[in-house]
Amino acid sequence: MHRTPLLVLLALCAAAATASTEQSDNDPEMAERLVACASCHGEAGRSNSETYFPSIAGKPAGYLYAQLEHYRSGRRRHQIMEGLLANLSDEYLREIADYYARQEPKWTPPSLPEADARLERGRALVEDGDPALGVPSCRSCHGDRLTGIAPTIPGLVGLRAEYLSAQLGAWRTGARRAASPDCMAEIAQRLSPADLGAATAYIASLPLPEDHSPAEGPPTSLPLDCGVVQ
Ligand code: HEC
Ligand code: HEC
Repeated sequence: MHRTPLLVLLALCAAAATASTEQSDNDPEMAERLVACASCHGEAGRSNSETYFPSIAGKPAGYLYAQLEHYRSGRRRHQIMEGLLANLSDEYLREIADYYARQEPKWTPPSLPEADARLERGRALVEDGDPALGVPSCRSCHGDRLTGIAPTIPGLVGLRAEYLSAQLGAWRTGARRAASPDCMAEIAQRLSPADLGAATAYIASLPLPEDHSPAEGPPTSLPLDCGVVQ
């Protein structure tokens, strides 16, 4: 069988991830059940800046639930996660989402040269947007601290540039889709690849703010309509 080596590998990675535990977990039973997830996303969903796998600790529960549902239904694609989630009930997906939403993220941004024209352009897009291109600031939806807005808008700070860029690229090509109207697809299509790279490099250079919990929501007014925000 082809599956065996993969499962063994996942188990080994999970053991390594558990050994480097830094903060105690508030639900050991759930952690045990989600050991396969930890092999990629890190213990309690705390991925770090060394790996591509996105950190999922501390993201808003409604956002996490929507993503799990998207992988289960194939709206967002990842073969291994599709397999792991295929037979799980909506109720269990909610439990998983709630579990990760309760975890503390951790993140050490990579060090970058300070004066960098690309980072300056990235900062402008994040703070002010680009009205000429019809692109609102990232902060206007992802929250002042870029930690997201509960319950459905994810934080951006604490994610690697490679992961962020891959998501924006996937929205440009239609490989990632959110509920319609899909505001992120519009934003990703209005910006050039160079601008997307600038915004993601800037975001990935930021440290986690002291208060890294999502802002309280739901947001009252957004500059574009987003289907996930009712
Ligand atoms: C083999 C590695 C691997 C395993 C195992 C895995 N994931 Fe993932 N996960 C990924 C990758 C890679 C992505 C980003 C994929 C993409 O670009 O859509 C991801 C994305 C996610 C996201 C979306 C993150 C975001 O910010 O949008 C969630 C939620 C998630 N995984 C939860 C889980 C859960 C829960 C499990 C266990 C049932 C799991 N994953 C197992 C690799 C993995
Ligand atoms: C009009 C509101 C809005 C604006 C403006 C906006 N976003 Fe988003 N963004 C969202 C929503 C809503 C989601 C969640 C989509 C989903 O459910 O998959 C999201 C998700 C994302 C994700 C996926 C995060 C993950 O964990 O996988 C990235 C990356 C992202 N946005 C980057 C940006 C960047 C960079 C900007 C600024 C150039 C920006 N966004 C501006 C609403 C917005």
